Amino acid sequence: MVYLTRRERFNAAHKLWVKDWSEEKNREIFGKCANANWHGHNYELFITVKGNPHPQTGFVMNAKTLGSIVKKHIIEKLDHSNLNLDVDFIPSNIQPTTENLVMLIWKELESKIEGCQLHSIKLKETENIYAEYFGE
Ligand code: NI
Repeated sequence: MVYLTRRERFNAAHKLWVKDWSEEKNREIFGKCANANWHGHNYELFITVKGNPHPQTGFVMNAKTLGSIVKKHIIEKLDHSNLNLDVDFIPSNIQPTTENLVMLIWKELESKIEGCQLHSIKLKETENIYAEYFGE
């Protein structure tokens, strides 16, 4: 089994906020992510698929095709968006955290990968923080 990873990048704004909490508590828990007028991150997304290299091409999956699928279904929707308001696959009642995003991106992509299997979705929100999802 070989694991192939494609990286894509996008920039997006969000706000993390719990209505039932005071502004102080939201600030304390979410920090800058609770900013009233939104704020942004430069995200890095890693999509890993797994399978056996094809005998003729030597590919687990054509990395260009994988890039096109990810761009069409994920990056075009997320890039320069407001993650709380603009994206059809992010429900409005869900906090757009890195943790929730990896699960939602998995759901969007899983059925679109052909000829191999989706293995993981990894999303870096900052240099030092990322979340990773393996489908369960
Ligand atoms: Ni944030």
